[in-house]
Amino acid sequence: MILQNNTVLVVGANGRIGSVISKRLLEEGANVIAADITLQNLKNNEFGVYKDQFLKIEMDITNKESIEKAFEFALSKFGKIDSAINTSYPKGSEYGKHFFDVSYDSFTENLSLHVGGFFLFMQICAKYSLSSNQKFSLLNFSSIYGNIAPRFEIYENTDMTTPVEYAAMKSAIQHLSQYVSAFTKNSKFRVNCISPGGISDNQDAKFLAKYKKFSREKGMLDVEDLLGTVLYLISESSEYVCGQNIIVDDGFVV
Ligand SMILES: NC(=O)c1ccc[n+]([C@@H]2O[C@H](COP(=O)([O-])OP(=O)(O)OC[C@H]3O[C@@H](n4cnc5c(N)ncnc54)[C@H](O)[C@@H]3O)[C@@H](O)[C@H]2O)c1
Repeated sequence: MILQNNTVLVVGANGRIGSVISKRLLEEGANVIAADITLQNLKNNEFGVYKDQFLKIEMDITNKESIEKAFEFALSKFGKIDSAINTSYPKGSEYGKHFFDVSYDSFTENLSLHVGGFFLFMQICAKYSLSSNQKFSLLNFSSIYGNIAPRFEIYENTDMTTPVEYAAMKSAIQHLSQYVSAFTKNSKFRVNCISPGGISDNQDAKFLAKYKKFSREKGMLDVEDLLGTVLYLISESSEYVCGQNIIVDDGFVV
């Protein structure tokens, strides 16, 4: 149990990736603060055995007061927070349209919510660490599409694509993580990114086959395939790793 006596704040804990991470952190002995704008998927019975290690909090990363309240509540229960993992996915109502159908307002709304939210959360985590002199490791979820242009050919004849907003959001998160790393040098705060490839979710078989051709062996990954890298980046094993982005994609981008 590599995270005994650690308290980890997971944002987006109601989601596909965040819920699996939360469960694994509990198994590794961590106290987990499961935060999300909605908590409907996090059933108490699933996490019941860990009830003393587990706290659910409704939190919106686009709202400063909401994040600050979550920190207060979490600190009143656990006394300190050692790390945070931001797996949230804020997006606007018009998110994901065809490139030529994306309006200026929709583009800027999506960037405002997603990049703005990740920025705000990073700022509050860094402030907490610096003001309390608390060691803190923050892990931001970016994506391979923050690193490379989409391989549009794999989406041909499907109703899927990589939205232009996504590319802008995810690349910005990588650069902001470096900015904040540079800004917080000489402190106990560090921030890194993980950039997963696609995660399996009952996608069309033809799409999966095309995706796999760019990969080494597996193609689309399961959330479980990310856990080793997630645990590494929030634990002491990566104590001197700062401002980095680790791509976990079975070789899709190379
Ligand atoms: N699933 C993939 O294939 C994949 C691949 C690469 C990167 N990612 C990234 O990983 C992260 C998690 O992806 P996922 O598939 O689990 O997404 P998801 O949509 O299943 O989960 C995201 C969670 O974020 C929450 N959320 C949305 N807005 C919020 C806000 N303002 N404040 C707090 N919580 C909010 C949602 O309620 C949801 O529970 C995302 O940032 C995504 O871009 C996902």
